[in-house]
Amino acid sequence: MSFDRSIKIAPSILSADFANFGAEIQAIEAQGADWVHVDVMDGHFVPNLTFGPPAVKAFRPHVKTVMDVHLMITPVDPYIQAYADAGADILTAHVEAGPHTHRTMQAIRAAGLKAGVALNPGTPAEAVEHLLDLTDLVCVMTVNPGFGGQKFIDMTDKVRKLRAMIGDRPVHIEIDGGVDPKTAPLVAAAGADVLVAGSAVFKGGSVQNPDVYGQNITAVRNAAESALG
Ligand code: DX5
Ligand code: ZN
Repeated sequence: MSFDRSIKIAPSILSADFANFGAEIQAIEAQGADWVHVDVMDGHFVPNLTFGPPAVKAFRPHVKTVMDVHLMITPVDPYIQAYADAGADILTAHVEAGPHTHRTMQAIRAAGLKAGVALNPGTPAEAVEHLLDLTDLVCVMTVNPGFGGQKFIDMTDKVRKLRAMIGDRPVHIEIDGGVDPKTAPLVAAAGADVLVAGSAVFKGGSVQNPDVYGQNITAVRNAAESALG
């Protein structure tokens, strides 16, 4: 995985057909997805339950791009190896998930993965200031995590602040929640490069009608890139 700051669209399979993940992943990649975003929820850190390591392992052979695994779980550390074995490329933990995010970032990298750190809307940019040298991605949540299809919460100031704090470090800024062609330009202009989109990508399409996924991905990408001038 090489680093660059070009706009990357990462569809969240939380909005896919849950009976058909393999074909859904293949469809979004064929339609231009740059990464595949996998939302792991534990019914404890967030009020919803999704994928354990065996499910993520089953997705792996279908993902030809980058499998971006977003852990909305606590504790994190006991599960790092299991998600590494399941084939995650990037493993992102929440800074709110425990008191030792620094150790968690070290452990994710020690397992051979890229390490991401996510911030809830109520958490300030400064919470990750001392993690930036241990981190490959900062995920700025623009909804309270737990569900797809929620309304975008404007975190533009936080993104701008993080972009300045990151400086020349090879650290991605990812936006997660409520990203669509209207909101994408705001966060792209502030310095985000990875845009997670669930409902905005899967809306109106299907494995039988995958062109809609392509049109939806292109609409988000074009809107974001137009903000970069
Ligand atoms: C929210 C998840 C998001 C979510 C995005 O807890 O982390 O990845 O699925 O979905 P949309 O794009 O529908 O807000
Ligand atoms: Zn997510």
